[in-house]
Amino acid sequence: MTNIAAASIVLPGVGGPGAPSRSLQACAACPTAEPAPSASAGHPRYAEAIASKPATEGTPHKPAKTTREMLRWSRWWTSTLVSLRITRDARLRFTPGHYARLGIADDTGSPIFRPLSIASAPGDPCLEFLCTLIPGGEFSARLAEIRVGDSLEVERASFGFLTIDALSPGNDLWLLTTGSGLAPCMSMLRDPGVWNAFDRIVLVHSVRHAEELAYAAELRRLAQEPPDAARRASLRYLPVVTRDPGASALSQRIPALLDDGRLCLAAGATLDPEHSRVLVCGNPAMTRELRGLLGSRGFRTPRRGVPGQAAFEKYW
Ligand SMILES: Cc1cc2nc3c(=O)[nH]c(=O)nc-3n(C[C@H](O)[C@H](O)[C@H](O)COP(=O)(O)OP(=O)(O)OC[C@H]3O[C@@H](n4cnc5c(N)ncnc54)[C@H](O)[C@@H]3O)c2cc1C
Ligand SMILES: NC(=O)c1ccc[n+]([C@@H]2O[C@H](COP(=O)([O-])OP(=O)(O)OC[C@H]3O[C@@H](n4cnc5c(N)ncnc54)[C@H](OP(=O)(O)O)[C@@H]3O)[C@@H](O)[C@H]2O)c1
Repeated sequence: MTNIAAASIVLPGVGGPGAPSRSLQACAACPTAEPAPSASAGHPRYAEAIASKPATEGTPHKPAKTTREMLRWSRWWTSTLVSLRITRDARLRFTPGHYARLGIADDTGSPIFRPLSIASAPGDPCLEFLCTLIPGGEFSARLAEIRVGDSLEVERASFGFLTIDALSPGNDLWLLTTGSGLAPCMSMLRDPGVWNAFDRIVLVHSVRHAEELAYAAELRRLAQEPPDAARRASLRYLPVVTRDPGASALSQRIPALLDDGRLCLAAGATLDPEHSRVLVCGNPAMTRELRGLLGSRGFRTPRRGVPGQAAFEKYW
């Protein structure tokens, strides 16, 4: 078993000693929310983080139809990683793995939109997102200032091909993610569908530092006790921390771990196109490397409506 010891992770704002109280902002309407003393600005250390790089030119996308929603809850895992829960228009339908376009306005009222994978289940009355804040990023700068009660815009449609129905039936589902690429997998694991479509799910989440293992407690719980509605699958959660030696049993990048067989050993499963299905999400260099590696092992991507054995989503 390769889970890092629970005692070794102290996530800022998750109740560890000295956790800053302002890292949680809450609303009673959100089932996972925990009360916070007051709504506050974004993470205090973010200003320092973005000061190191000049702002880049944004690429605003103006969606045709949006609804105005409100931030109900936020949780800062680190100064550059936050989960947000926002109100949801009842007409917005999505499949786990989809992304939505979220817009945040500045003082002039003009919103900037970015695609963000939905981390909540389709049945959740709110929408949840997991966001990495980028130094110099235009959307990130606005995200850093957002407070509970502020409004955001959400495009009415959801999009994406990183869904389990893009894959042909198989026994094992491998979810290979870096950073905020975990988000679409959270949506899947919070929905019974994926638990009933496979015998085994292996979730690999690669981050630089241990405190970036967002949702680690929820994932460990799911690995021990699948949700009631799950009739079939079991979950193996394999965190990979690449820049804190000793923080996790696995510490190399995912392609290297796959290439030399350590990932299969840790998962207790083989990876082959006959039985395994793979969804990859996050860093584009990682998706590129895995596309090559899995392609050479005979995995095919979905094409023109024909399901495949491996699907990829890159975030930039
Ligand atoms: C389909 C899709 C789904 C996405 N889902 C998410 C999501 O769930 N969560 C999320 O945080 N981002 C997600 N992104 C990225 C997101 O749209 C923005 O790029 C991000 O919020 C930063 O916006 P920005 O304007 O601050 O910086 P940008 O100008 O958009 O990006 C600047 C640079 O930051 C880096 N970067 C961008 N996004 C990330 C990231 N997520 N992690 C690490 N480095 C990054 C890249 O080097 C990029 O060139 C997704 C992108 C796509 C295409
Ligand atoms: N994470 C932070 O501490 C931090 C802090 C402030 C700002 N940021 C900004 O956030 C952005 C990056 O955020 P992030 O850390 O979430 O994403 P990231 O750089 O994609 O790193 C996430 C994980 O992906 C791994 N990875 C990177 N390239 C890979 C590849 N080619 N193949 C396989 N795995 C790969 C990383 O391993 P490696 O460790 O080996 O690279 C790490 O484990 C950058 O713009 C950065 O400036 C990050």
